[in-house]
Amino acid sequence: MDGLEELKATVENRLSSIKTMEDLNNVRAYLLGRKGLFSEFIERIRLLGKEEKRVYGQQINTLKEATENRLKEIKAGLEEKRRQEEEKASRIDITLPGKIPIIGKKHPITKIFSEIIDIFASLGFSVAEGPDIELDYYNFEALNIPPHHPARDMQDTFYIKDGVVLRTHTSPVQVRVMESQLPPVRIISPGAVYRCDNDISHTPMFHQVEGLMVDRHIRFSDLKGILTIFIHEMFGDETSLRFRPSYFPFTEPSAEVDIRCVICRGEGCRVCKDTGWLEILGSGMVNPQVFRNVGYDPEEITGFAFGMGVERIAMLKYGIDDIRQFYYNDLRFLSQF
Ligand code: DAH
Repeated sequence: MDGLEELKATVENRLSSIKTMEDLNNVRAYLLGRKGLFSEFIERIRLLGKEEKRVYGQQINTLKEATENRLKEIKAGLEEKRRQEEEKASRIDITLPGKIPIIGKKHPITKIFSEIIDIFASLGFSVAEGPDIELDYYNFEALNIPPHHPARDMQDTFYIKDGVVLRTHTSPVQVRVMESQLPPVRIISPGAVYRCDNDISHTPMFHQVEGLMVDRHIRFSDLKGILTIFIHEMFGDETSLRFRPSYFPFTEPSAEVDIRCVICRGEGCRVCKDTGWLEILGSGMVNPQVFRNVGYDPEEITGFAFGMGVERIAMLKYGIDDIRQFYYNDLRFLSQF
């Protein structure tokens, strides 16, 4: 039975070659299977004499048992290795870069609103608000725009029903504030307004900021002073401006305020229609009739009012040439501000 040493060597060799469960099963079949190496050996022992049979039989059995044990150990080892690998794969890798959330930004219109409010707050103005759905009375009549007044054509009104409109400007807030409090009044009123209009420079909904300062002895020079400070804060100290006579039913006298074109600096361009100036707001001394409508005495009380379009200011400040960009909600546009 010199084959025994050879068998031992083969067993050792096969066992140490096992790397996977598949190897393990193959080696087990090769060594211990019904037609395996051990069976072959045991078959051969049958042919030996009694004494030899006993000695070799014992040795073979011992080797077989040891082989079975080794296979069990190897199997346990492989199972443990697989368990560890699975655990490792499911573990969170804290060295991976994190997902960066998209940070929201303020809409450019909201930003301009805040800037305007901050500037006027520093001049002692507080914020007042009024309803978007407004009575014809506040939107027109109390502001000295009677029915059939040609000024109603200046603003294409959305009517909700007889006597009720979507406000066409923020001026009605002036009336509501004065009705509810006595002078002095120093308010601005930011908000949405609506006009039946839609093209590259008009959207059916847009935004205005209204202003009103009322007290004894308020003069046109106060209007000029406050609005000059506002424009210098908003567009820079070096910005020239001019007050141009105009007409609004609720102010007398009235003036529109122009600034030097921020695009061409006065040279003349498409944006300023070659005038070198950009109209930025409407203003004037509150019409005595408006004071009478709210129960103020125009002999005692004077004041000025102004109104500006927020989209227009944003377009000039940021160089945007299509007002509709503000409302497409395209993140590529919005994320620039
Ligand atoms: N309400 C006017 C408009 O929408 C703007 C305006 C002009 C408001 C003069 C005023 C003002 O308060 O005094 O066109």
